[in-house]
Amino acid sequence: MEDLRVNSQSSLSDVDDLSRLLDRPRLNIERKRSFDERSFSEMGIMDSGINSPGGRSGWETPASSTRNSFEPHPMVAEAWDALRRSLVHFRGQPVGTIAAYDHASEEVLNYDQVFVRDFVPSALAFLMNGEPEIVKNFLLMTIQIQGREKRIDRFKLGEGAMPASFKVIHDPIKKTDTVIADFGESAIGRVAPVDSGFWWIILLRAYTKSTGDLSLADTPECQKGMRLILSLCLSEGFDTFPTLLCADGCSMVDRRMGVYGYPIEIQALFFMALRSAMSMLKHDTEGKEFMERISKRLHALSFHMRSYFWLDFQQLNDIYRYKTEEYSHTAVNKFNVIPDSIPEWVFDFMPLRGGYFIGNVSPARMDFRWFALGNCVAILASLATPEQSAAIMDLIEERWEELVGEMPVKICHPAIESHEWRIVTGCDPKNTRWSYHNGGSWPVLLWLLTAACIKTGRPQIARRAIDLAESRLLKDGWPEYYDGKSGRFIGKQARKFQTWSIAGYLVAKMMLEDPSHLGMISLEEDKQTKPVIKRSHSWT
Ligand code: GLC
Repeated sequence: MEDLRVNSQSSLSDVDDLSRLLDRPRLNIERKRSFDERSFSEMGIMDSGINSPGGRSGWETPASSTRNSFEPHPMVAEAWDALRRSLVHFRGQPVGTIAAYDHASEEVLNYDQVFVRDFVPSALAFLMNGEPEIVKNFLLMTIQIQGREKRIDRFKLGEGAMPASFKVIHDPIKKTDTVIADFGESAIGRVAPVDSGFWWIILLRAYTKSTGDLSLADTPECQKGMRLILSLCLSEGFDTFPTLLCADGCSMVDRRMGVYGYPIEIQALFFMALRSAMSMLKHDTEGKEFMERISKRLHALSFHMRSYFWLDFQQLNDIYRYKTEEYSHTAVNKFNVIPDSIPEWVFDFMPLRGGYFIGNVSPARMDFRWFALGNCVAILASLATPEQSAAIMDLIEERWEELVGEMPVKICHPAIESHEWRIVTGCDPKNTRWSYHNGGSWPVLLWLLTAACIKTGRPQIARRAIDLAESRLLKDGWPEYYDGKSGRFIGKQARKFQTWSIAGYLVAKMMLEDPSHLGMISLEEDKQTKPVIKRSHSWT
């Protein structure tokens, strides 16, 4: 915890500011239906057999049901208990959940911290259960942390950078709480959490959608926080593409795994955050200026992603027949991809029916690996066209063994091994083939799969995945990840009582039971000519 010293310097005044924010009079929030009836029937989920009880339950009696019964699955109550055990408080108020509550593990590392990305499913669970306060506290806490000066050695980070994680230190003698944060300066490998800012914006929208309370997003703190994040990712540079250039390990896969360049996960989150911000920025001078920049970027980004990241049977066949060394605007093979670089596995993997956004596209490089998070977020943000969204679901059905197997959901497919593993991961012993980030199975991804299933009108796929999770998760102690080609083994170094495995399950259950929850984490397709969301009507 070398960072304690550095961060605590600025912590005292920050903490006071934060307390003032948290102490604001509570708003009387009435939860608005987050998903209108129109979208319901449009998406064909009215007749899907999903029971939608309409009301929300208190946490003592979490509402959830198994397929043929209104009795909550016994795992649901266990999950709520475990989720509540992971709560982190600051001056008596809940502000987040720790990554894992695993006392058996010898090494705590940073699993006792509140990770921004890990808190998202916890936050959604609390919102769906009618408990928005903790989410509001978390959003205010992290925006306060963003305001600190951030350094790695002698290098000052961008103002808008959001932390990967933070920790509250209680001093029982002085009776003080101090917050320390990690922007990558303590993280293994010193990786930059590019996804944190995007998740923050996405969560702010989820809070606003779920509660109908615009006042949080409207605060000068949140408006400024959003603008700072946007400044970072919309800044001009040497780029020739509208996608966002990143270093390796910049998101959920926070180790060297060949995800540098333009990883799908970041592009999908970037797109979703831009659209979310668009709906929350104020129409003042500064806000309007950002909205214009966002609008242009979204236009270019969706075109680029839908055209160049998309792969289906036809597209694969076209790439297979590509000519190379084409110069000028008429080039078909724009990135000069050499057909010989297409890996063997993809020819067998690609079904006639289905498609997906590949992992990465840059000059002479297409990373054909499948990444679950990026593809699910692409569906939720409507980065994927309705046809592409349906095709992604088709692929999941067609390649169930590979992409879901015995424990939902594979983080990526296939694993890299042997020489490639040595070169790409730098011989990482944690990311050996079919383990952890290298083809491991992560229960947290269940909520994203479920949301994507509901959005595409295929709840039966989610139900199948949830059944698989229910057969093992509780019994195995809510592991962080599973290993093996079909995800049969509890991960080599997996934590138990991993909070996002627990929360991910709860969110999946609640969403399937009441699909109206989807609205807080999903965006309808944008008709390019219209503004993304008309502010005056966005929350009704
Ligand atoms: C691992 C995961 C990362 C997660 C963290 C805390 O480092 O790769 O995505 O945020 O654990 O759970």
